[in-house]
Amino acid sequence: MNTTTTDPYQLAAQAAAELAQRTGVERHDVAIVLGSGWAEAADGLGNIVADVALADLPGFPAPTVLGHRNLARSVAVGNKAVLVLGGRAHLYEGHPVTTVVHGVRTAIAAGCQTIILTNAAGGLNPAWPVGQPVLLSDQLNLTGDSPMAGPAPSGDLPIRFVDLTEAYSKRLRDLARQVDNTLPEGVYAGLLGGAFETPAEVRMIGNWGADLVGMSTVLETIAARHLGVEVLGISLVTNAAAGTSDELVDHEDVLHAAAEAGPRIVALLRGVLELL
Ligand code: HPA
Repeated sequence: MNTTTTDPYQLAAQAAAELAQRTGVERHDVAIVLGSGWAEAADGLGNIVADVALADLPGFPAPTVLGHRNLARSVAVGNKAVLVLGGRAHLYEGHPVTTVVHGVRTAIAAGCQTIILTNAAGGLNPAWPVGQPVLLSDQLNLTGDSPMAGPAPSGDLPIRFVDLTEAYSKRLRDLARQVDNTLPEGVYAGLLGGAFETPAEVRMIGNWGADLVGMSTVLETIAARHLGVEVLGISLVTNAAAGTSDELVDHEDVLHAAAEAGPRIVALLRGVLELL
């Protein structure tokens, strides 16, 4: 896709315009970013209005990770236009942070005032079985990068020094608990990744307050909060974090665990969308 700007916010506006044209949906209300293995959840959410290949929108790379679908899907749920982003760019794939958060900025340029970020994560809490969804209460951005680093946001955009006291909306967590009052909450540590963690690294982040570990989400949350949008974060525990059980960590197991949890996740996401 040819693009004419290097400004990430303008690029997001171009992508949103192209999305509106290709889906025929002028504005979206809510976006859901699907994590590894969550693709099944895209199928049961509501009436599919249109599918667009992400690679057809300005600024989106072709995803390389098994378990991610390369689609932007417009879904009607009740009176809400929901944008489901089935492909996510990660820092560990070599993408710059602007590319990693481009989906979220595009969704916001498309009108979304609520963003639901989902991911697969290693669990540090031994009480959480594989398949447990967990609401994110807060995060540790341990990627060493930030969407707020680099050239200052220009024009009417908010300044870069975004307040992250409530990175994940308490209102939205309460709403999710109306759908499932057994949902626990926890702090998500987002690492650069590429490799899974060592047990020593898991012990370290546990001492720092992490309950979950993964390789996504934290940068998107910062980018969304910068633009004033409410974020609901949901991790699916796909494995015990390295060294916290007798098991090794295996990407195939991660995808399998996420697929198994599909029906519960669809019900949860649908329930939240209906309450929004
Ligand atoms: N670590 C990092 N990322 C992950 C994990 C993990 O244990 N499981 C799923 N994504």
